[in-house]
Amino acid sequence: MSDRITGRAAAPLLLALALCLLPVQPAPALDLQAPPMTPLAEDGIHDPDVESINSLQDPKVSMKDFPKDRRGEVNWVKTLSQGLIQPRKSVKGDPWEEEIMRTMDLDILMTNTAEMPHVLFPHFQHTEWLTCSNCHFEIFIPQRRANPISMTRILKGEFCGRCHDKVAFSLWTCERCHSVPHPKSPPKWW
Ligand code: HEC
Ligand code: HEC
Ligand code: HEC
Repeated sequence: MSDRITGRAAAPLLLALALCLLPVQPAPALDLQAPPMTPLAEDGIHDPDVESINSLQDPKVSMKDFPKDRRGEVNWVKTLSQGLIQPRKSVKGDPWEEEIMRTMDLDILMTNTAEMPHVLFPHFQHTEWLTCSNCHFEIFIPQRRANPISMTRILKGEFCGRCHDKVAFSLWTCERCHSVPHPKSPPKWW
């Protein structure tokens, strides 16, 4: 399912990117709805013919009270911080696996953002869900500015795009990454 969303999102996103690369242009605000939540029987994971499927809650019901972002997608960072879910640190309760799930509070400010506000990359919110080796060294060299990250490469599914728009929040909500305005960033149009 995620691939379908990514494919569908990539073309208009490239257009949005092209728009914001032009010298200051008043562009219409993006007003895109999140795709609807897929019922369990249609998600390609659960067997719709097994009777016990009726004993499981559909995402629409189970996630009804979870905080949403402006597109209507579940905001998992808030859902976790408000204590609405308590994810396990490991599937089997393996002590070694639980030990490597440690949070680290280290923000990285990324300033190569043209006229968009700068990007604040928070280690804390990531290490609540992931362990260091999920990113280091395969996706990112653990050193400031050591990675040639760009929006085009993210949209192609590299760097942040390995997860965002797939298993983490979408690339449409620019402001969740581009959260630090600077003197040259225009008023919010995205
Ligand atoms: C998942 C986080 C994330 C989201 C969401 C995101 N960006 Fe980015 N963006 C980045 C990062 C990281 C960079 C590179 C910053 C650096 O290297 O200093 C970047 C760079 C850029 C740049 C600089 C030029 C370039 O090609 O790198 C522009 C323009 C940009 N983004 C526009 C957008 C727009 C418009 C949106 C929403 C439609 C968006 N971004 C959503 C993370 C994100
Ligand atoms: C979601 C991906 C992700 C995870 C998980 C992650 N990091 Fe990082 N880390 C990054 C990114 C992105 C950078 C910045 C790279 C850049 O600026 O080019 C970075 C930078 C670093 C740096 C360099 C800081 C500096 O000042 O130069 C260190 C050290 C680091 N990470 C250690 C860790 C450790 C330890 C963990 C686990 C507790 C961890 N990282 C988990 C993505 C991640
Ligand atoms: C290995 C997967 C992975 C990679 C790579 C990754 N992220 Fe994330 N990111 C997540 C997950 C998972 C969350 C928390 C759950 C969610 O929000 O969907 C998250 C959350 C965030 C948040 C917190 C948002 C908030 O509302 O507090 C920001 C900001 C963010 N990511 C930016 C980035 C940027 C910028 C990059 C690239 C430099 C990046 N991420 C790379 C998986 C990833």
